[in-house]
Amino acid sequence: MASRGGFSSRIGFILAGAGSAIGLGAVWRFPYMTGANGGAVFVLVFLACCFLIGVPVMIAEITLGRHTERNPVGTFQLLHGGRLWKAVGALCVLSGFMIFSWYSVIAGWVLGYLWEAVRGTFNTAHTADEVGRFFAAYVSHAPTVLFLHFLIIAATAGIVLRGVKEGIERLSKWLMPVLFVLLILLAIRSVTLPGAGAGLEFYLRPDFSKVNPRMLLAAMGQALFSLSIGMGTMLTYGSYLAKREDIPASAMWITFFEILVSIVAGFAVLPAVSAMGQSFTEGPRLIFVVLPSIFAMMPGGYLFGVGFYVLVIIAVLTSTVSILEVPVAYFVDERGWSRRAATLFVSGVAFVLGIPAGLAFGASAFFTSLPGLHTDFFTVVSTLFGDVSLSVGCFFIAVFLAWVWGVPRALAELRTGGHTFRLAPVWAFLIRYVAPISILVVFANLLIGLFAD
Ligand code: PFF
Repeated sequence: MASRGGFSSRIGFILAGAGSAIGLGAVWRFPYMTGANGGAVFVLVFLACCFLIGVPVMIAEITLGRHTERNPVGTFQLLHGGRLWKAVGALCVLSGFMIFSWYSVIAGWVLGYLWEAVRGTFNTAHTADEVGRFFAAYVSHAPTVLFLHFLIIAATAGIVLRGVKEGIERLSKWLMPVLFVLLILLAIRSVTLPGAGAGLEFYLRPDFSKVNPRMLLAAMGQALFSLSIGMGTMLTYGSYLAKREDIPASAMWITFFEILVSIVAGFAVLPAVSAMGQSFTEGPRLIFVVLPSIFAMMPGGYLFGVGFYVLVIIAVLTSTVSILEVPVAYFVDERGWSRRAATLFVSGVAFVLGIPAGLAFGASAFFTSLPGLHTDFFTVVSTLFGDVSLSVGCFFIAVFLAWVWGVPRALAELRTGGHTFRLAPVWAFLIRYVAPISILVVFANLLIGLFAD
């Protein structure tokens, strides 16, 4: 299947995989989810999920994809063909559409903030309260939000149309280390602010009374979301991977980078939240309110801020292309569409699907506070197509690999490049038992919680 393109080197694959993983999940979602779900204890559950579910399922996805050289739907069909597995493949494609739709809305805000930073808006409105008021007005202006949402989708489609290799590898290669350095500098500024202590304590000292079923789902969902697993992204990327590459090592590296960036982003944001007298439970607006104020307190803050938003946009685009790739690969491989038609179709639909999420922050009263649900549309879609759909996806991918296709076949594929996989028994145990059972336990807790309410 040479026409599908491919990664030219292992480092290219790790960079593209890390590019997919590192994005808004680490920089925006991790700090606000940690804030909203009790702090340090959320971080502990997140880390446990990364290693007990994340790494094993990422290895599973890449192995399946490399073996079949197909998208998720084609992979299940080729290896089994049953109705259940068709449905799981369809869920992967659906998650691709839905996550692309709401993710681009937030990415659009970042783009808007880049423009505002360039214009110097935050030179005048720079206390957290001022930025908060600016934010509220900004995201409730429908034409602005939808235009930015459109720009992100169009940029993503443009990159995907240029093909796997050129589009993805080149972008993620040089700029992520720079983003990481900027995040470290931000973290240093944040933890040295007067009043940062309360935020640090919140972030580092676990309060086990904060454990509850919703928080467990949030932490697990955050791990899977930020590692880009559970909807076949890594599977699709694996389908472009050469046989000689070492899959477990690649998965470990990707996870390591993702965790590193998430943890540093937490240090950049949470201490500043307490220092600025803001609340940890602000939700999706958290970094948008706090970061401009930190930039304002740094030497060279103007350039620093502009540079930061540029780099986050690049990180975002290497993630959005990976999300779009799943439905596109499906239409190309399974339906015989041209790459161009598939990309334009998926992007157009995702734009429309994202409109209600874009209007959920004040532009439309209905979507901002859904009648009867006491929450906004954005929270609902990003929980359903994020935490829930990725958990369900990971559960079935683990079960499929371990119990339908079988660990021995997977090990044979993993070893085709001549690599010895010394931790194979550990991986087999995790993928057979620990990953699927942990996911079930989280859902069982949620159900029990629902009935107890
Ligand atoms: N991991 C990406 C991020 O953290 O920004 C988002 C993402 C990409 C989720 C690809 C799911 C996915 F399949």
